[in-house]
Amino acid sequence: MRILITGARGRLGSALIAQLANNNHTITGIDIQELDVTDFAATLSLVKEIAPELVIHSAAWTDVDGCAKEPDRAIIQNGFGAGHIAQAAESVNARVIYISSNEVFDGRQNLPYREYDLTNPINPYGYSKWVGEKMVREATPRYQIVRTSWLFAHGGKNFIQSILNAANEGKPLKVVTDEVANPTYNDDLAAALVRLIETERFGIYHLVNQGYCSRYDFARFILDHTGYNGVEIQPISLSDWARPSSPPPFSPLENLAGKTVGIPLRPWQDAVIAFLEREGLLRA
Ligand SMILES: NC(=O)c1ccc[n+]([C@@H]2O[C@H](COP(=O)([O-])OP(=O)(O)OC[C@H]3O[C@@H](n4cnc5c(N)ncnc54)[C@H](OP(=O)(O)O)[C@@H]3O)[C@@H](O)[C@H]2O)c1
Repeated sequence: MRILITGARGRLGSALIAQLANNNHTITGIDIQELDVTDFAATLSLVKEIAPELVIHSAAWTDVDGCAKEPDRAIIQNGFGAGHIAQAAESVNARVIYISSNEVFDGRQNLPYREYDLTNPINPYGYSKWVGEKMVREATPRYQIVRTSWLFAHGGKNFIQSILNAANEGKPLKVVTDEVANPTYNDDLAAALVRLIETERFGIYHLVNQGYCSRYDFARFILDHTGYNGVEIQPISLSDWARPSSPPPFSPLENLAGKTVGIPLRPWQDAVIAFLEREGLLRA
């Protein structure tokens, strides 16, 4: 299949390209250097030139605090950008996979969110991703919206590396106990997407590693498996930590739809251990 991937240099896009290349697809990966998706004319022209059969829109402005400071820019970049991609894809009869986020939910319920639960974003990043979902659905019926959360990836900035850097430098660690979601390995998500492509079953999916935890529990798990068992973490709450964006407090996703098409993801603890092992950081 001819596949166009946006956000190709990002955490997810780069893993996707690596995995799809092994599956006999013809891949074109682009990032903001090749196309700014806020430019509709340029998006339409490039998509027509490449004439993909599938577009995977992974590009986004993922700086949640930046989005909180410039909410209109977030809507234009993440929301309208997704709409431009979906309209351009529809013009060449291509299907669309739009990567969205757990932050489209308000985080106020006490059970993990299922695919068709009511969305209600509470911060500008979540709102911009929600606008993207809406614009994709309005542009084409042939969409797969894939929500995910707390991605960690090799070679980039991520929560695991930040915790380990702080422990290594002997910095005091303070981590919130009341922000809960699913840590998700970008390689596992990419593998799940490769399988989702094969299904041609449209709709909304929650592709996350199974299970969930607080940021505090995630940090504790990382330290306990990298030889930093003795390093203490001070538990704090979201209200102790002033930042521009307010994350939804309890926003784990439940992967119901993916399981029905044979795409379960392994538990987040196994994924973190696999990540640490590949980084050479795992200590018994
Ligand atoms: N990371 C997470 O924890 C997480 C959680 C839930 C959902 N998601 C979603 O998953 C997707 C992939 O995330 P990721 O972590 O791989 O993101 P990432 O590493 O930040 O990569 C996103 C890429 O998109 C590019 N981009 C930004 N604005 C663009 C524009 N207007 N036109 C074209 N390209 C643009 C970025 O370029 P610059 O670097 O130059 O800005 C970057 O290369 C995103 O849609 C994100 O919203 C991520």
